[in-house]
Amino acid sequence: MAKPRIYMHDVSPRDGFQNESIFIETVDKIAFINALSQCGFAKIEATSFTSPKAIPALRDAEDVMHEIVRAPGVEYTVLIPNVRGAERALACGIDEANLVMSVSETHNRANLRMTREQSLAQLGQVIEVLQTRSSVSKRVAVNVSLSTGFGCPMEGEIAESEILRLVDNFARQGVKRISLCDTTGMAFPSQVRKLCRKAKANYPEMTFTLHFHNTRGLAQSNVLAAIDAGIDRFDAALGGIGGCPYAPGASGNACTEEVVHMLELEGFDTGVDLTKLMAVSAMLPNLVQHDVPSQILKAGHRLTAHPAPAYVQEIGQAQRVVA
Ligand code: COA
Ligand code: ZN
Repeated sequence: MAKPRIYMHDVSPRDGFQNESIFIETVDKIAFINALSQCGFAKIEATSFTSPKAIPALRDAEDVMHEIVRAPGVEYTVLIPNVRGAERALACGIDEANLVMSVSETHNRANLRMTREQSLAQLGQVIEVLQTRSSVSKRVAVNVSLSTGFGCPMEGEIAESEILRLVDNFARQGVKRISLCDTTGMAFPSQVRKLCRKAKANYPEMTFTLHFHNTRGLAQSNVLAAIDAGIDRFDAALGGIGGCPYAPGASGNACTEEVVHMLELEGFDTGVDLTKLMAVSAMLPNLVQHDVPSQILKAGHRLTAHPAPAYVQEIGQAQRVVA
């Protein structure tokens, strides 16, 4: 029987690099994305078309999108906060536009410097621009990422009804893809299971992606809980890097290699080649100039064999001599 398929999206070039204090050189970003493209991802979030003042680390978005080598079968998506971003992105040939706003009013204001109502109006315009300007031969898909959906580091609890209200709003505008994002690792498994079941039941035509951060060590458990509820698409960042610079206490995404490692052991087909992926992950500490959270990068695959200490061989012999 075929293994159940899980679609993996690597978001490290966007969610990861946006949060680094150093500027990663454009050529290095391009080489990194090209290497990621060979690993079997369904989607790669390559950069963001945000204000260079808000996200200076990704101010080279045009160059990155023009220079990367697009691998067949991989969708290249970019984060877009407003019409200006959409126009810039359209000029670069994207497969998907990932529109962003927060479920939390406070985080929306902190991150995007506008109210949620203003974001809804802007994103409404962005959707129109994308629908009219993308040609039939090169249709740009629209995904909406709803940040702080499982809790806000400034407001605390976020009502499930608020997330569903926003999902509803975008579904009415013809959006067919939504990411439910746990921006600062506040989600927990039973909450995830309940929300995903409800979202899938209410919007059966919608493709949902779950986007977890491992801020409190629950990302992997949340992935399994979402799968229980029928979700089959996940964002994750290589090395477990990442975070929103405008969310207090934000830290790394679910770590791609940890999620792939777990899902493959659990009998899922992620399409991702873990060996190739580990080679790319090994580039990261040098690229970001610090250690990365990935446990798999440190420990290796569960069957990574280590040489036994010399005395292990000698133990039996010593016992025989004594006997
Ligand atoms: N791309 C490039 N430049 C942009 C831009 C875009 N998408 N949107 C706005 N700008 C520029 C404006 O031209 C203006 O430049 P100027 O000061 O040289 O005239 C400047 O940014 C401010 O524009 P304004 O419309 O006043 O925006 P703002 O300061 O209110 O910021 C956003 C609004 C949405 C553009 C900004 O907050 C942003 O990019 N946020 C993204 C945050 C993010 O990515 N967070 C992490 C991911 S969740
Ligand atoms: Zn994120």
